[in-house]
Amino acid sequence: MLSIAVFGSGAGSNFRAILTAIQQGNIPAARISLVISNNSGAGILGIARANALPAIHLSQKQFPDERSFADTVLATLRDHGVNFIALAGYMKRVPPAVVAAYRDRIINIHPALLPRFGGAGMFGMRVHEAVLASGEKTSGATVHYVDEEYDHGRMVLQLTVPVLPGDTPESLASRVLAAEHELYPAAIGRIARDETSPEHQRN
Ligand code: GAR
Repeated sequence: MLSIAVFGSGAGSNFRAILTAIQQGNIPAARISLVISNNSGAGILGIARANALPAIHLSQKQFPDERSFADTVLATLRDHGVNFIALAGYMKRVPPAVVAAYRDRIINIHPALLPRFGGAGMFGMRVHEAVLASGEKTSGATVHYVDEEYDHGRMVLQLTVPVLPGDTPESLASRVLAAEHELYPAAIGRIARDETSPEHQRN
């Protein structure tokens, strides 16, 4: 069973898509155990609270250094029985100690077809601006494992959308976001299924 903490900074529409898939019974081997945001006013915390899920504001700014922030994040994850982390619009670096403690247990969604249009500074609208400036005919979204490098770890799933004539960064972003809402629950469903398969149990 995946016991998931979702980390996010903003509206939380990807979190909502994951939660809806779980509530509808589409991902039987997963539950949401905790939502963490660096932003106390983030929509993602409001969605969690409206669904009676633990929602915690935790930001590096509340701590003297990254290590003490990481220690509190890890203790909070442990207290909530979390064994898997999904980054959903989380705009901060995950402390290396958290990545190390959850090695191969953290995934992220990125609003482009990695390995292109990723890396430090490539988030939010900047990604879509870069895709349009490059003249690409397709874009999309990628779910991948998180390691110490931005947007770098092994890919789980990708979904492609067309770039249309006349697209603005905003119109492309909303087409990609709609694809993300299909892709993220599908990726988590695949991981949850793989982990509960008899083959995985033998490994
Ligand atoms: C999504 O498009 C997600 O891919 C992007 O932020 C948006 C969050 O929307 N993430 C990044 O750019 C991280 N590198 P949401 O809060 O509505 O899910």
